[in-house]
Amino acid sequence: MNRFLIVLIFFVSNLLANDFITQRQESMQNFNKLMREATQLLKSGDVQSLNDIYGEIEIIMNDYPNLFPDESFKGKTKASSDIIDNRNAFNEIALETEQWASLAKIAAKNNDIEQVQQHHQNLYSSCKSCHSRFKN
Ligand code: HEC
Repeated sequence: MNRFLIVLIFFVSNLLANDFITQRQESMQNFNKLMREATQLLKSGDVQSLNDIYGEIEIIMNDYPNLFPDESFKGKTKASSDIIDNRNAFNEIALETEQWASLAKIAAKNNDIEQVQQHHQNLYSSCKSCHSRFKN
């Protein structure tokens, strides 16, 4: 009976860790998709409808650091386990990214295309800063 319990606990904790991995990979796919949509809207000059997109990105990045518990670095993840020892640096990049999205949203509300483009570029730079350091 005890052995059965141990196996069960092991199984369930593995399932939970995998769930975090799936969630964060889906968040990134979403982020990627939203950025492409935003690029299209920027090209067509439809600045107002960018509000919602940058708002969604802001929400994604706000939640993102919560999807990396210590036990979630095994299996089908590409996240570097460096995150565990450098949480401050990781959280800082996520926060910065969230703030670029927030600034882009405000600029879109103000119909300020140049500012939106600037912050859109900053958002794209954030992919690289984070991936080069924390993605395998
Ligand atoms: C704060 C850090 C951070 C930022 C900012 C970030 N990423 Fe990621 N990204 C990651 C990590 C970590 C992974 C690996 C997640 C895993 O496999 O567990 C990842 C994985 C991905 C994946 C693969 C998802 C999958 O299906 O496995 C894509 C696509 C992606 N990122 C796109 C982007 C784009 C596009 C941007 C910028 C517009 C971006 N990311 C910004 C950390 C970040």
